Amino acid sequence: MKLGVTRQLPLDAESLLSPFFETVELLERGRPLEPSELIRLIEDKDVLICQLTDLITEKVLEHAKKLKHLATFSVGVDHIDLNALRRRGVRLSHTPGVLTEATANLAWGLILNCSRQIKSAEKFLREGKFKGFFPSLFLGLPLERATLGIVGMGKIGRAVASRGEAFGMAIQYCTRTPCKDSPGKNVSFEELLSTSDVISLHCPLTPSTRHLFNATTLRKMKPNAVLVNTARGPIIDESALYQHLQANPGFSAGLDVFEREPEVVAGLSELPNAICVPHIGSASRWAREQMAETCIKEAMRFACGEKLLYEYPL
Ligand code: DGY
Repeated sequence: MKLGVTRQLPLDAESLLSPFFETVELLERGRPLEPSELIRLIEDKDVLICQLTDLITEKVLEHAKKLKHLATFSVGVDHIDLNALRRRGVRLSHTPGVLTEATANLAWGLILNCSRQIKSAEKFLREGKFKGFFPSLFLGLPLERATLGIVGMGKIGRAVASRGEAFGMAIQYCTRTPCKDSPGKNVSFEELLSTSDVISLHCPLTPSTRHLFNATTLRKMKPNAVLVNTARGPIIDESALYQHLQANPGFSAGLDVFEREPEVVAGLSELPNAICVPHIGSASRWAREQMAETCIKEAMRFACGEKLLYEYPL
């Protein structure tokens, strides 16, 4: 069997997987692959380890005549045409679980940054404007009296919610799949929008969550609310958010993901009430190594005819 890898992983996939495959081809270009490069790589491969930047479309899969297993270095699978995989009988594995705490921690980094205006306060000091303690300088949101709304109560949503409880926040959530053991109360999306002081997004990107946050829904949020997205960019209409942030200086957003990555809507990251970071939710050393190990071990299991442990149901 032949294996392809679309980017260098935090572990040495080539050495680890060579004993299990006839050939291992790593195509590291120092950037995400172009569709033509991806097609060239996938053409003769039985197994491919891909990234969320590799768009596995119907067109790409038309060239993947031998592909039997796709292992994505991500928990999210929205970069993959799942129907096209199913039709071809290609199995899919992903990396759930290992990045939960890292992503929840980044979401909290963004919540704290937004609720206490750390970005603006740091700039103020750096620009030499700090003339000593002042009672009303950079007043922020009292989290211990605030309500945290979670959209999507999966593993990461729960981890963010339990950190919110530790900060003394009231927790509420809306979710597609019912969950029994979650902290907080289950409310409608409309109620979550209008009554949360902080909203953190943890739902997958699907046709029904694309632009869930748009000009209309943003207007239903509290004028001084915080919106944090460590899930997928297109859940928010980024241009609408930019306009909302400009019109409501008390509203703030913490963004790890963007609608057209790596592009960010012009001017958004310069706004004082937006903090933007480059898709680093899972970027703790441990989490990224575990993601690599999960992909590598799933490829080994597939090569040995063993059961995949992190198979995504198609
Ligand atoms: C994922 O895994 O889906 C994250 O977005 C990147 O770690």
